Amino acid sequence: MKCSGGTQIVAIFGCPITHSLSPVMHNAGFSELGLDLAFVPFEVRPADLKDAVNGLRAMNFKGANITVPHKEEVIELLDEISEDAFLIGAVNTIENRAGRLLGTNTDCMGFIRALKDAGADDLKKSKVVILGAGGAAKAACVGLLREKVKELVIVNRTQRKAELLQENLKGTFKKNKISVMPLDFEALKGEFSDCDILVNTTSVGMKGDSIKLPLESLKAGALVYDMVYNPPKTKLLKQAEKLGHKTENGLNMLLYQGVIGFETWTKKEAPISVMKQALFDAAYK
Ligand code: ATR
Repeated sequence: MKCSGGTQIVAIFGCPITHSLSPVMHNAGFSELGLDLAFVPFEVRPADLKDAVNGLRAMNFKGANITVPHKEEVIELLDEISEDAFLIGAVNTIENRAGRLLGTNTDCMGFIRALKDAGADDLKKSKVVILGAGGAAKAACVGLLREKVKELVIVNRTQRKAELLQENLKGTFKKNKISVMPLDFEALKGEFSDCDILVNTTSVGMKGDSIKLPLESLKAGALVYDMVYNPPKTKLLKQAEKLGHKTENGLNMLLYQGVIGFETWTKKEAPISVMKQALFDAAYK
């Protein structure tokens, strides 16, 4: 990374932040296009978030990514947020437009691009079962509903949380079919039998663990998407693969949420293959 007198910064704020793969991905992209931009990680404690966000204006940063634990709290510090960010209740990308900070959420459309890349080409005809009802699930649901998915089923360990998400989504997506199911092995058999896409949005799988699911009942040819990308193949993906299903992990979602951010900041087409290579090398070297 070269810095000149004219270098502008794109930041990422999180706590902790050292694990983030975004700097490697974005700096590879900036360098490929010969842009005088640098992507720099900053560990920002929750109590310092307001000062850090004001710093974006004060130091004329090009923009920023926002990650855990700041995605919700940052909203009130911005000048404007996109409709998706409002619906999801979280911002992961900020654009600095001459001192006005615009917050967006690129996780939801990043997820949709990754899903389509994995072969989900007809979402309007697809029934999707989502595991989890946290922030990642919210982003996935908003993306899927924007794409007019045929049916959405939210399954969560704490059923009340899934119901709250359902109520929240129904307020905006009035015509879509959205239902809630308990995380119950027997009850899920019926849901799985006509499910086209199963998505894990929980962190289960990161530690070699798995949720007990009736995968044998899953419709033949269904796609199984796990947002976990480390390990590259979770137990869920291994089991699904054994049963003959198409599978995909979450690294492409990380890539595409970054691609959308890159294009927001630079107004240029992102060099996707270069960014993808850098990301994969950093994740799995
Ligand atoms: P994120 O923002 O990454 O989605 P989150 O908001 O903490 O994280 O949500 C984590 C999700 O994973 C929740 O849906 C959680 O279920 P609960 O609402 O019941 O807590 C789910 N989850 C976490 N650990 C789980 C486990 N061992 N089994 C099943 N679901 C789990």
